[in-house]
Amino acid sequence: MNVNGFDAAAGALAQAVQAQRLAQRLRGLAAHGGVPTGGVARQALTHEELAARRWLAQDFAARPGYRVGIDAAANVYVRRCGVDAGAAPVMTGSHVDTQPLGGWLDGAFGVVAGLEVFDALDSLGVATRRPLDVVMWTNEEGSRFAPGLMGAVSFTDPQRLADFLPVADSAGVAFETARDQAVTDFETHAQRLGWSWMDRPLGAPVHAYVEAHIEQGPVLEAQGLQVGCVTAIQGVRWYRVSVPGRSAHAGTTPLANRDDAQAKAIAMAHAVLGHARDCGDERMRVTIGRWECLPGSINTIADHVSFTVDARHPDAQALDAVRTVMDAALPDGAHIEVLQDKPTVQFAPDLVALATAGCEALGMRHRQMLSGAFHDAMPMAGFCPTAMLFAPSIAGVSHHPAEDTPIEDLAACTQVLAWCLLKLAEPAPAST
Ligand code: GLV
Ligand code: MN
Ligand code: MN
Repeated sequence: MNVNGFDAAAGALAQAVQAQRLAQRLRGLAAHGGVPTGGVARQALTHEELAARRWLAQDFAARPGYRVGIDAAANVYVRRCGVDAGAAPVMTGSHVDTQPLGGWLDGAFGVVAGLEVFDALDSLGVATRRPLDVVMWTNEEGSRFAPGLMGAVSFTDPQRLADFLPVADSAGVAFETARDQAVTDFETHAQRLGWSWMDRPLGAPVHAYVEAHIEQGPVLEAQGLQVGCVTAIQGVRWYRVSVPGRSAHAGTTPLANRDDAQAKAIAMAHAVLGHARDCGDERMRVTIGRWECLPGSINTIADHVSFTVDARHPDAQALDAVRTVMDAALPDGAHIEVLQDKPTVQFAPDLVALATAGCEALGMRHRQMLSGAFHDAMPMAGFCPTAMLFAPSIAGVSHHPAEDTPIEDLAACTQVLAWCLLKLAEPAPAST
């Protein structure tokens, strides 16, 4: 198809994206794990998440030309078959797991946007040469099983799955057990309903991956923009710091005689947060998000504290400096465990250019930008040409029940996604 022919087809597809259908499916998804007081509680591989994945797949699984599957990391796929069955698929999607109490769009938007593109393609009867896959990655958040991105990392580097299988959640349930239950649940359901099945091995070739996501930050809204074309994701390091002490009576033990794990941990936390505040770099991000203290009694000195540090910055040297501060402030006997260390990744310049061209062709107000959050696209970037599209977040709020985006902005981002996916999957004459 010539360039003008392609532009016409992609423009028509973008027009076939329906904001109302997108909103309806997002609301239906939010009901899975929806909390009456606001927000969504749908952590990785819980009953709520498995039900949500089945619910999303079922709309398409029975349509002609569709297949569903689940891989060894419990990533779920919905495939719209291409005319060239042997061609590597173009992939889109994101995650449907949430923080313990998260918002309704983080991850959910990317999956539902991909499915909306399927609906738009179906409404126009457009066939593509390459298959198109919408993927629901497993455990992006990392809040139930640490680290995050387990599904996408396992897909792109299958040997890593073995490292994740023994990881347990706070109730002692191993990722392997939850993964096995998820695979059995999806396969049984698909078999019972006669869904067309596809096997999708970890590491199977992918032509390109484009993920839509909410920005989760304030930039696009503040600048009155509709779409962000993401050029890179900043590096992230996660640590767990364990500080030992000795329990003793809170009323009788003089300060000089104490080995107070809590006091030592607080001093170290101040050092690392103080560095972030005073280093003079507004790009620095340091978060202490989890804090555990044993025995956790009001009148007993703590004999064990552990806390997490999440440090992010685009430059590795800045993250090294955080680690230097942590090492210098580490109390005697304490230790630091690295839970995750992901360097900054750059997205494929050709795909960023494609996303930008899509915004221009569709008349969207857009800019190129860095992602502050990590995403499933991070491991994918080392595996196949990868890019991301951002929709604005109201007041930049995310990982919170108030997370929101105007539906017209979600639809605009989905239109650009549709434009990019059709370009990558190539419009084809429908087979008869
Ligand atoms: C993903 O949720 C992140 O923490 O960036
Ligand atoms: Mn996300
Ligand atoms: Mn998230």
